[in-house]
Amino acid sequence: MTIKDVTEEILKLKKEKDVYILAHSYQGREIAEIADFVGDSYMLSVNAQKTPAKNIIMCGVHFMAETAKILSPDKRVFLANSLAGCPMAEQFTPADIIKMKEAEPDRAVVAYINTTAALKAVCDVCVTSSTADKIVSKMNNDKILFIPDCNLGAYVQSMLPNKDIKLVKGGCPIHAFVNAADVETAKSLHPNALVLVHPECVPDVVKKADYVGSTSGIMNFAKNSDAKEFLIGTEISIVEHLQYECPDKKFYILSKKLICSNMKATTLVDVLNTIKGIDDGSAFEIKMTDEEIAKSRRCIDAMIALGG
Ligand code: 13P
Ligand code: SF4
Repeated sequence: MTIKDVTEEILKLKKEKDVYILAHSYQGREIAEIADFVGDSYMLSVNAQKTPAKNIIMCGVHFMAETAKILSPDKRVFLANSLAGCPMAEQFTPADIIKMKEAEPDRAVVAYINTTAALKAVCDVCVTSSTADKIVSKMNNDKILFIPDCNLGAYVQSMLPNKDIKLVKGGCPIHAFVNAADVETAKSLHPNALVLVHPECVPDVVKKADYVGSTSGIMNFAKNSDAKEFLIGTEISIVEHLQYECPDKKFYILSKKLICSNMKATTLVDVLNTIKGIDDGSAFEIKMTDEEIAKSRRCIDAMIALGG
């Protein structure tokens, strides 16, 4: 089979089987082109809820499929590649968080959406990279414990100096690997390029950026900017998508360290096999009890109530 054959078969079967395909923007171009919606973590959860389809296939990592299931419990949700996890989502256990809460009970616990459902169940409010500062600014409690990404937490603290945000040592191993020297090297190669970075990068990198935002924020900024060259400080697929969408502009990756192997695990054939496996039970389905869904949903509902 060729890429074209697999693509055509996916497009045919997804209609027949009432499947809605969601892809995070860190997926490669071939996956983005068969998806019904491509976007950042926040918009994926919004679209998972909105679709009337009976089945959702998530091309992304495990917590994204879990979030889709929590928000749409009546739909069947599948992860296209069962091995695609996010190391950051599993950096803490619920027991770790309960211990931290007991030590400082006056702090509200804010969880980045890149966490397991079990962790969300012991936190107070969820945030995404595109909503974090807005949500935290609207919280009544000024004392916050922010988990698990200390870099996103530090960025929120810099935007909201009146809040007292306690950080923990965690974060995205891919973004955190880029350092200030990488930015200087990239800038020396592309001196006219604007630097656009994700807040999962370390503060020394964020300080050197012309724009800081979620994957969608970075893409929108680049599309609307009059500038012609951009250094992209987030996963490499964003460079690829932007280059397709804005052929008159030039996009460069800030560092070749910015490749997430978990996000790159999903192939077109995984998507095809998942659609075919919906009826025979071989597809990887997210299974959660009503109690697990109710407990983890509380913190997502709190985000939605605050306007996220
Ligand atoms: P966003 O799409 O929310 O910016 O998330 C980035 C990320 O690292 C997802 O794994
Ligand atoms: Fe997790 Fe980082 Fe990969 Fe996103 S880029 S899935 S946060 S490891």
